[in-house]
Amino acid sequence: MRDSFRTRLGFILAAAGSAVGLGNIWGFPTQVANHGGAAFLMVYLVVVVILAIPALYTELSIGHQAQANPVAALGKLAQRPHRVGAGLGKSVGLLNVGGAVLMLSFYHIIAGWMLAHALGSLALAMQWPEAHLALTTSSLWRDLVFVAVFLVGTGTIVVRGVSNGIEVWSRRLMPLLVVLLVVLIGYIAMQPGAGAGFARYLQPSFAGFSDPNLVVAAMGQAFFSLSIGLGGMMIYGSYLDRNANIGQLAVSVAALDTLIAFLAGLLIIPALYVAMGQGMQVSENGQLIGEAQLIFNVLPELFERMGAAGPWLGFFFFMLLSIAALTSTISLAEVPIAYLLESRQHSRRRATTLVIAVIAVFALALVIWFVPLFAWTVAYVTKFQLPLSGLFYFIVLGWLWSRSNKLKEKAREQWRFRLLFWHLRLVCPLLLLWVFVDVAFAG
Ligand code: PFF
Repeated sequence: MRDSFRTRLGFILAAAGSAVGLGNIWGFPTQVANHGGAAFLMVYLVVVVILAIPALYTELSIGHQAQANPVAALGKLAQRPHRVGAGLGKSVGLLNVGGAVLMLSFYHIIAGWMLAHALGSLALAMQWPEAHLALTTSSLWRDLVFVAVFLVGTGTIVVRGVSNGIEVWSRRLMPLLVVLLVVLIGYIAMQPGAGAGFARYLQPSFAGFSDPNLVVAAMGQAFFSLSIGLGGMMIYGSYLDRNANIGQLAVSVAALDTLIAFLAGLLIIPALYVAMGQGMQVSENGQLIGEAQLIFNVLPELFERMGAAGPWLGFFFFMLLSIAALTSTISLAEVPIAYLLESRQHSRRRATTLVIAVIAVFALALVIWFVPLFAWTVAYVTKFQLPLSGLFYFIVLGWLWSRSNKLKEKAREQWRFRLLFWHLRLVCPLLLLWVFVDVAFAG
């Protein structure tokens, strides 16, 4: 029998765990700081409602209806035009499997940096300066070791399956993540200078809205943040029982993801202002200095200036990022694993070993040839794969999936569902096309 989530809460925490990742804690606040502060926050909230929740609903529904991995699910539901649709669906599903592996290879590298810095802060707290230096200074060996450690973490959870691995660990890690985040916000809020950061984050200024990239940046961020476009949500949707209310679940998961991103902003933006108050440089010509520099240099230095508590704050902060990353990697890893399990008849153990080994090889290549490959891989996955697969999911739900399409059936009866159906089949694809053209050809 197919594995599945045991409880509704277990699913919500796992799906929110997939969504809450580096994109929330690192990506969202830096986007806020670079695109007009509170203006970005407001546009983001609108975009979540009109585009991201519909996309999440669509991806979850496809998995839920098909009760199968993305290759089989898209092949099954893309029924029109006859046969061609199924082939197209399977091809996009395979692209998702490949995209998930590529994304996992770079995501594990970044996650490894977070874990290295967490242990580095711990070493500082223990007054082991050499270990601190070795862990927080970038080197080939450090990166390789920590990619390996993180891969073992991902593998250890997913090899146990959905209910005993993914669900159990999401239930443990997500509450811990929230506690860490709240403790850090409380601490930073009490530092001198934090108030200006809260104002920048929460009080919109007209100037903030004048940024021409604001809307497209918000749409890209929302898509990435809700884990749409690689089949991660589709596979989780497939592990829900037949009676699940997908609309309600999509709204709950999106609300949790947005809440955590909002809270991360309450941490990082005031922290930047505290750092500025201490004379540290955080921006140049209105743009943040490099995002990596911000996380790995400015914030650790700020923590170090906070006396004895500093190294512990650093430890909590990087553990927060590591946990957020782990609950995302397990969902992505489930995409190729479920494919090997169901469509290629591997055992879970073999599928997990194979997938982890392939990610390890790709990650190794990315670490060794970092400069030519890393940025390219990130750009390919985030700028092409996510919007184009998302577009395809909308087309499947709106145009290609004919039999037992619940939304379509309801649209025949009630006008509000008709409105929603047309929103999904027309407005959302057009919005996505806009993001894709803008990002791919303009920047
Ligand atoms: N949502 C994750 C983040 O915000 O970091 C990234 C992600 C995970 C994207 C899983 C796509 C995915 F399937």
